Amino acid sequence: MFDKSVYIARRKALASKISSGIILLPGNNEAPCNYAGNTYPFRQDSTFLYYFGLDKPDLAAVIDADSGEEILFGNDVDMDDIIWMGPQPLFADEAASVGVDKSAPRAKVADCVKAALKKSRKVHILPPYREDTRNELCELLGLKLAELKSAVSVELIRAVVSQRLIKEPCEIAEIDKACNLGYAMHYTAMQMMKPGMSEQQLVGILEGVCLSEGYMTSFATILSQHGETLHNHCHSDILTAGKLCVIDAGAELGSHYASDFTRTWPVSGKFTERQKEIYTIVSTANQYALDAARPGITYRDVHLGASKIILQGLSNLGLVKGDIEEMCAAGVQGLFMPHGLGHNMGLDVHDMENLGENYVGYDDDQERAKQLGLGSLRMARKLVPGQVITDEPGIYFIPALIEKWKKEGTNAHYVNFSALENYYNFGGIRLEDDLLITASGARLLGSKRLPITVRQVENAMRNN
Ligand code: GLY
Ligand code: MN
Ligand code: MN
Repeated sequence: MFDKSVYIARRKALASKISSGIILLPGNNEAPCNYAGNTYPFRQDSTFLYYFGLDKPDLAAVIDADSGEEILFGNDVDMDDIIWMGPQPLFADEAASVGVDKSAPRAKVADCVKAALKKSRKVHILPPYREDTRNELCELLGLKLAELKSAVSVELIRAVVSQRLIKEPCEIAEIDKACNLGYAMHYTAMQMMKPGMSEQQLVGILEGVCLSEGYMTSFATILSQHGETLHNHCHSDILTAGKLCVIDAGAELGSHYASDFTRTWPVSGKFTERQKEIYTIVSTANQYALDAARPGITYRDVHLGASKIILQGLSNLGLVKGDIEEMCAAGVQGLFMPHGLGHNMGLDVHDMENLGENYVGYDDDQERAKQLGLGSLRMARKLVPGQVITDEPGIYFIPALIEKWKKEGTNAHYVNFSALENYYNFGGIRLEDDLLITASGARLLGSKRLPITVRQVENAMRNN
């Protein structure tokens, strides 16, 4: 938790951005796993954390945008709770610790919302993403489930995005720490990687680094020699010399700030010549994005610049043919990189994705493309200092997708389908770093960069 002055300033700024009405922010509740008493690890709602800092279930908050009044709703523990959980602080003291003077029992939020509705005041809510929150909001607002979507406040979404998008120095310090832990996870896994061990063993080692610090991973770890499957959560294969292993993983600190790195290691510690060729294209695209990212440029343009590097590299290998600009406009790169160059990162690894990707990643004058790849770009905005984004180009050889394009004749004059048949067993490569946009450019987050060039990787793995 930050100093209470941080939360006070954030809430004041939020209230000033909302024209009138009340802002209702429910926290998250415990989520049952297989029975009510056996819950998933508790995860507070990130927007609630951002404005109120309290990291426990069964809370809600209201900010009156007109008067500036703030109320936190939560319960004091009873003897039953003390028996199972031990003594707990008074809720009023917890509220005071984040600069909120007024607190009330959790159930009282209903009276507060009812009073606002009675006066025909607007109740601003964000899009709920959990069923129990949806149900509570329906009950509080007197709406049917189908009506809830239209009750979401775009004004509130835009206000929250405008604040959370630009990271404060205290947040950047946390993200740097999360990146340092992410570095340790990846570096340890890379050093321990050996042909003959299972992918799952390596997942255990990588996640153990995070767990042993008392933290969780920021998303489900991807660790696979089938890197061509972008989000491969199957870890059942045996690590085999000659193959590449994609590892996409990150840490989430106690403050809930995240890191998100991807590296693609040669299992044997040495790349084959063919792997080197494709790997170097991806590492060049990654470095290009780091060098190009700066205030004023759109990340859409950086995505397109990285796409052209990928097309040029593949053209040099004879896998595509034609004018690079024309191929890029036609979206040929989508066959090889069917995802975007990156996303915002912060309290969520895909920061604020629950608020709506286009509100978070697109400026008002930008429209999301429909093309494969560019259409999946989560972050297209004009960059401004304080933004934290990922830089994650990749090249994947997805036989089913290549076959589909071939069958349908998609971009047939640009793609060398017969040469691609030799790559059906190649897999995929992704290289991901986390960037902070500075006043004049971008810097890597975390104090050390994971090995990324062919030379750095082979040198780091020379004793494997
Ligand atoms: N871990 C998913 C991503 O990199 O966006
Ligand atoms: Mn990732
Ligand atoms: Mn990412």
